[in-house]
Amino acid sequence: MTDIRIAPSILSADFTQLGEQLRAVERGGAGLIHVDVMDGHFVPNISIGPMIVKAAKKASRLPLDCHLMITDPDRYIAEFAAAGASMISVHVEAATHLNRTLTAIRALGCRPGVVLNPATPLIMIEEALRLVDYVLIMSVNPGFGGQSFIESSLDKIDRLRDMIGRSGFNVHIEVDGGIGPDNVASLVSRGAEWIVAGTAVFGSDDPEKATRALRQKAMEPLTV
Ligand code: DX5
Ligand code: ZN
Repeated sequence: MTDIRIAPSILSADFTQLGEQLRAVERGGAGLIHVDVMDGHFVPNISIGPMIVKAAKKASRLPLDCHLMITDPDRYIAEFAAAGASMISVHVEAATHLNRTLTAIRALGCRPGVVLNPATPLIMIEEALRLVDYVLIMSVNPGFGGQSFIESSLDKIDRLRDMIGRSGFNVHIEVDGGIGPDNVASLVSRGAEWIVAGTAVFGSDDPEKATRALRQKAMEPLTV
């Protein structure tokens, strides 16, 4: 059963009105709230920490999808779980002991996910499929919102879908970076289910309407 969810990334939100922005995307039909955590080491930018996750948790009933772009995820996963994360994903490039990290995320009561940068081959996560609820394919180089979608990600999603099918595990595909109304349908038609969008939602004048429009486009391949 396909589980399409739009995951607005609060990286592009107006933090002076975070509560209202979260309520707007919820009204628009968002299924997750994507939280981009950047440490200035793994990626060149610094963004959100557990304090904001705690604030978002108070303001929204939607699951908080924490994407850790940090060098030492083991050190912080408990803090993000305690702050209210429902899902925690770590980069395969950053987790030295990926099996341990993913097991620990589940033991903390969160859904574990693993993330791949655009140039990281899928084979790197083959052994981890048994441990995760989702794989997040980066369709931009992580660090900033508002970048252009890397087209080769489409082929990578195809190959990931096949790899998951062969594995027999129930793993969702999430995609992150450069996604908007023009390319969301092609991602869904390839098997992507959880769609992250920062600029396309919070860069618009009306995040509620933008979320609804994106969701409609995402559902199109399933209704034709
Ligand atoms: C990039 C982040 C993304 C980002 C997406 O490092 O992981 O989640 O917020 O932003 P857009 O949708 O603007 O590409
Ligand atoms: Zn992200």
